[in-house]
Amino acid sequence: MTREALFDRYLAPVLKALIDEDAFLRPYRGIDWEQATSELRRPEVHYPPYYLENNFHGIPGGYLSMRAAVTYDPITQYVLWPNETWVRDCLVKSVTRPPARILDLGCGTGSTTVLLAGAFPEAQMTGLDLSPDMLVAARLKARREKLAIEWVHGDARTTGLPEASFDLVSASLLFHETPPAEVPVILCEMHRLLAPGGQCLILDGAQSTLRRVEWLSEIFEEPFIRAYAAGDLANDLAAVGFGAVRTEEHWLIHQVSRGVKPIWRPGLAYAGTRPQPSEAP
Ligand SMILES: C[S@@+](CC[C@H](N)C(=O)[O-])C[C@H]1O[C@@H](n2cnc3c(N)ncnc32)[C@H](O)[C@@H]1O
Repeated sequence: MTREALFDRYLAPVLKALIDEDAFLRPYRGIDWEQATSELRRPEVHYPPYYLENNFHGIPGGYLSMRAAVTYDPITQYVLWPNETWVRDCLVKSVTRPPARILDLGCGTGSTTVLLAGAFPEAQMTGLDLSPDMLVAARLKARREKLAIEWVHGDARTTGLPEASFDLVSASLLFHETPPAEVPVILCEMHRLLAPGGQCLILDGAQSTLRRVEWLSEIFEEPFIRAYAAGDLANDLAAVGFGAVRTEEHWLIHQVSRGVKPIWRPGLAYAGTRPQPSEAP
């Protein structure tokens, strides 16, 4: 059975039954979506072909629609077993030193961003995503929680943000949706953005479990999940110059991978052979 068939036949009807559509649309009532996305959209941001050409989660148009943004949280709460907040907290609890400046890459609707901002109220918090629609949902969430977070429309591969300007750079659920060729590009950008001694934290599916339990990769319409499962984020972090790399599994199906930008050789990841986005001229 194809993964589309699995999802459509079994999971979609269950999720539909579990989700109270009226309740999840309520926070978005009264929002002029066009206006809100235009406030966040930066016209100079270029969308990578992989992002435009794939239907993540089976949603036509990928993440560039209001539908993708408003359905993301209601579905994700059931996907992050056993409890969405506990799973996201695994990343928050992996922070070793209170950071003064935090960047959450591929922040989506800002669920992890908001948790980090709550855990480190003194920190200057930034969330970055390629989808202005997802950022609209994130901004709304932060406003509800009265959290001051800067939302940036941008590409995690080439953010354009200043070098060494963060003490913690995080990414949750981004890498299983990233083509393998772009993984070192984003990791190098994380390394570049961190100040020496800064920490990189990545929450995502447990690669070793995904390798052993193949049907887990079949369930959702995720174009790069098999390549992600075959990889090893701790090795990838070490390969771009991070030190103290480690992956810890949580509840069998999640993992947090971490690395620290060394103080003694901070330039290694981008000296000479820095990997480039695949469609770069
Ligand atoms: C599965 S969602 C994860 C969202 C959020 N971090 C979370 O934990 O729920 C993946 C997000 O990554 C974003 N994304 C994918 N590729 C990106 C890139 N190159 N730069 C920035 N954001 C990207 C998508 O727009 C989407 O919001």
